[in-house]
Amino acid sequence: MLSYQHIYHAGNLADIHKHALLAEMLVYLTAKDKPLTYLETHAGRGLYHLDSPEAIKTGEARAGITRVREGGMLHDAHPLSAALASVTAAHGPAAYPGSPLIALNLLRESDTVHLCELHPQEFAALREATLAHGANLHSQSGWDTVMSIAPPTPRRGLVLIDPSYEIAKDYRTIPDWVGKLHRKWNVGVIALWYPILTSGAHVPMLNQLEKAGYPRAVRSEVRFAPARAGHRMVGSGLFIVNAPFGTEAAASRVAGMIPRN
Ligand SMILES: C[S@@+](CC[C@H](N)C(=O)[O-])C[C@H]1O[C@@H](n2cnc3c(N)ncnc32)[C@H](O)[C@@H]1O
Repeated sequence: MLSYQHIYHAGNLADIHKHALLAEMLVYLTAKDKPLTYLETHAGRGLYHLDSPEAIKTGEARAGITRVREGGMLHDAHPLSAALASVTAAHGPAAYPGSPLIALNLLRESDTVHLCELHPQEFAALREATLAHGANLHSQSGWDTVMSIAPPTPRRGLVLIDPSYEIAKDYRTIPDWVGKLHRKWNVGVIALWYPILTSGAHVPMLNQLEKAGYPRAVRSEVRFAPARAGHRMVGSGLFIVNAPFGTEAAASRVAGMIPRN
């Protein structure tokens, strides 16, 4: 039974790290005049309203995207700003795009999109949020679905893996899953998000991914104050295989946008 709902965390500092770097990588990938495939294993609902009781309850968006925008840390020229502007123009000032809408705003008509979301309500909301975009939606587990699509057509492309890590065994199974995906789709950009936890539960997974010696691997990590006293997440990480040219520079720009305290 899935209980995680991203609305409680949408627009927090981890989202900004993940979404800003994703947006920058998509700008690099779409600079080439060749179509690509974009996939997500864990898409979420695509569109969030930061004035909802859930978002207000945790205050994570206020300490995240609201603070970053008000503090001028997110520049208008950043591709995440373009996605934000398009979503707020369509859905009001409190709207915040999830990763699917950020990607759909930056991709071209010639690109192919596959989005997986297992939770029935989140899937229904995702369908609604992406209606205008012609994405392929899968109400099945992203792990099996993406593996069965790989290698996709077109072969160039990027997969975002953004689990909620509700299932503790994810930390143990992900390195093998990434290895298998890379063997099936050796040119694919594989971007895995993970939380940086006070418990260090993410560390063995990262050690295993580092040891695999993937081509053009980039590890981008940012640290920040916990959302609440005692909250175990103190940072956000992205491990990227086949990182597009420019990802390291983009990662340091994005790190500069995140307040540390
Ligand atoms: C962290 S949220 C995704 C957030 C989204 N990527 C974003 O940045 O806007 C994780 C989502 O994965 C969904 N989920 C959990 N297990 C899944 C699975 N095996 N396959 C697909 N979706 C799953 C949850 O319902 C939740 O909506």
